[in-house]
Amino acid sequence: MTDYYVAEPAPVVAPTPAAWQNAGAPRRPRAARTRRYAMTPPTYFAVEYAINPWMDVSKPVDVQVALAQWENLRHTYLKLGHRVDLVEPVPGLPDMVYAANGGFVTHDVAVVARFRYPERAGETQAYGDWMASAGYRPVSTRHINEGQGDLLMVGEKVLAGYGFRTDLRAHPEISAALRMPVVSLELVDPRFYHLDTALAVLDDDTIAFYPPAFSEAAQEQLHGLFPDAIVVGSADAYVLGLNVVSDGLHVVLPSAATGFAAQLREAGFEPVGVDLSELLKGGGSVKCCTLEVFV
Ligand code: ARG
Repeated sequence: MTDYYVAEPAPVVAPTPAAWQNAGAPRRPRAARTRRYAMTPPTYFAVEYAINPWMDVSKPVDVQVALAQWENLRHTYLKLGHRVDLVEPVPGLPDMVYAANGGFVTHDVAVVARFRYPERAGETQAYGDWMASAGYRPVSTRHINEGQGDLLMVGEKVLAGYGFRTDLRAHPEISAALRMPVVSLELVDPRFYHLDTALAVLDDDTIAFYPPAFSEAAQEQLHGLFPDAIVVGSADAYVLGLNVVSDGLHVVLPSAATGFAAQLREAGFEPVGVDLSELLKGGGSVKCCTLEVFV
């Protein structure tokens, strides 16, 4: 098995960020686990309001391109052997394509999102209906939680962002509902308004993150919990390169994040680049479009 890593050539990519020295992820076998995802087609995708710095209402959006890019993402998962369930899109909810925000679903609990902005409030019903149709009785929180945008499971715990969207007071609610410990991490840069824009879960104990998106205290927490974390540079972070979906081996990521792709390869993962440029106009990429259902 170790031979696999020796055989994997590390591509030469310039310039080499100093942070690469930290990418000391152990050279141990990476392994894929079959996953289950839920996705919502961008049938009614638009940028008609701006609730994050990526959204510019004066920039045109091409729904056909968005649909084709989204289809390619779906096919990428299917080719990797994963299951993809579809959520019915609702007219008038242009951000519904960002399915990660719909909630947090495990084999026995489905927490439905409570959104920060009224523009997305209608999605609670839509994602709740989908959960009910999948056999769950959706649980809601008293405080704002934007689902897997801010709540990322790594191994036996949940990393939870706060500062822009999910309310810190929702974290204990989430912990109780999921019966899992939650680590609260403060986000400080509005470009990285959801945890999944600044931190990627690669397997049960490996993460990658962009330190400037976090408060000093959160950075220290992350370095302490994950000494082997991959530290990603700003060029990759600014194309939402951390907004990825990993099955433990294959890491589906925005194709523009070439530096991060090289770091992943170096750490024994297999990066799979996809172009979601049209969906970036809404402030989201691969992970935002994907709700993982933990089975
Ligand atoms: N326009 C959406 C919003 O601002 C984008 C959501 C992106 N989703 C995510 N998981 N980061 O709410």
